[in-house]
Amino acid sequence: METEILDSNEVKKAAEFIKKGELVAFPTETVYGLGANALDKEAVKKIFEVKGRPPKNPLIVHIASKRQLFEIAQIREDKKELISKVIEEFWPGPLTIVLKKKENVPEEVTAGLDTVAIRIPNNEIALELIEKSGPIAAPSANISGKPSGTCFEHVLEDFKGKISGIIKSKACDIGLESTVIDLTSEKPLLLRPGGTDFEEIKKVIDNLEIHNKKLKEAKSPGMRYKHYSPDAKIILFEKNAEDKIESYKGNFEEKGKKIKLLRSSKTNSFAKNLFKEFRDADKEKIEFILVTSVDEKGIGLPIMNRLRNAASEVVT
Ligand code: TXA
Ligand code: MG
Repeated sequence: METEILDSNEVKKAAEFIKKGELVAFPTETVYGLGANALDKEAVKKIFEVKGRPPKNPLIVHIASKRQLFEIAQIREDKKELISKVIEEFWPGPLTIVLKKKENVPEEVTAGLDTVAIRIPNNEIALELIEKSGPIAAPSANISGKPSGTCFEHVLEDFKGKISGIIKSKACDIGLESTVIDLTSEKPLLLRPGGTDFEEIKKVIDNLEIHNKKLKEAKSPGMRYKHYSPDAKIILFEKNAEDKIESYKGNFEEKGKKIKLLRSSKTNSFAKNLFKEFRDADKEKIEFILVTSVDEKGIGLPIMNRLRNAASEVVT
């Protein structure tokens, strides 16, 4: 299949691909998405095929307006006020909300669950695309298990020849995926930390709790799988173990292993470049990435979540 590289002024063409049941990768403010018509189950199946994604891992539906929300989600009367407040405050933006789904959302999107994850992305190209095509189901644009695609070049590496189009744009602003919260359970739950700060959401949902189940019991199916990993093995050093880095380094160097030292920082630019660092390491044939920790506050929370998920070993 030929993959068309589309400019930001060719969004109409991208929307036509989506309407025809084909796949298009598009930028969002978090990471690139690999999109299909959310209401077309045959189109959605293609996402799982080209990504090699476990079929039990549901997708986020991207919408462009609140009107579209009512088309795909059931809003419980007693939750209406809370949901409105959250949406008012955080959409468009890197916050995904899990709600009860309506019938028209195929179970291919939700992996058989009766809930659906939804967000309005804060990116003009994405919004124009969704306005023209209707709701788009999209996971991060990367081969399953690999670091998410945060720029056009990475998406091209993974999907050239496998999808109909890729919209070419600048690198994604945030570089980490959206925050996912579940508003269907009795207590609102944070399922995945991400681009929207947990503490900011707590100002609107004061009883929001972090869902801290072990990986295999995770409520967000995506958290059950190893993720974000480059070919290089990642060794994460907890704060109290940073003095062990030198001896690890010495050991690897003695054995002639190619290593890279990555010092984490609790900054937006570190978050933005994290997945790129992983991919660059593979290009340089690095075998081990030794990475330090940051406080799990602000952007530090999703950074540490991604590092823990990607790590082969955590040194404490
Ligand atoms: O920023 C993002 O969220 C990006 C961009 C493209 O929007 N998308 C993204 O999608 O990261 P993905 O598929 O890589 O991650 C979606 C996460 C997974 O952990 C998945 O299990 C969870 O959302 N999820 C989706 N539907 C769910 C549902 N109904 N209940 C619980 N978790 C759900
Ligand atoms: Mg993903």
